[in-house]
Amino acid sequence: MSNIYLVGFMGAGKSTIGRSLARRLKRRFIDLDREIVRGEHRSITEIFEEFGEPHFRTLETEYLTRLSTTENAVIALGGGAFMDPANRAVAEQSGVTVWLKVSFATVVTRVKMDGTRPRFGNKADVERLFNDREDVYRLARIHVSAEESPNTVVDQIVGAMRTL
Ligand code: S3P
Repeated sequence: MSNIYLVGFMGAGKSTIGRSLARRLKRRFIDLDREIVRGEHRSITEIFEEFGEPHFRTLETEYLTRLSTTENAVIALGGGAFMDPANRAVAEQSGVTVWLKVSFATVVTRVKMDGTRPRFGNKADVERLFNDREDVYRLARIHVSAEESPNTVVDQIVGAMRTL
């Protein structure tokens, strides 16, 4: 139960908050996407283009399962990772799950259409994906609004963890 898993949509701030939370709690920070990129020697976009999304999802599960044996880490998941029940089970069994909640309007202002996120396509599709995923993110143990500054969000997470 020792890891902290950050979940939420693209642009929720999982990597930024994760780094800040890890610093505050003196824990190691792990970014799942970055580990996949490092291990596969390819960008996320290249993995999607060369092998397809199902292969990326398989890699996500493999890397997450391996990293979940780390102790006392803060682990940022990619926006789609929590959709897989197997990944949710791995996270729940090895730590606390935290949903960084943001509005769709905030996502739009934060995420650039720079081609680095294959699931961030046209606005109507992204909004549908956002709405579809909300019910699953809600399964996380702790919910915090991630609209505020990283410091404030970190305070909220630390406070919520004390009540567990
Ligand atoms: C994805 C989110 C991305 C990355 C991949 C797929 C998704 O991570 O894992 O592009 O399906 O929402 P971020 O949420 O860190 O952007």
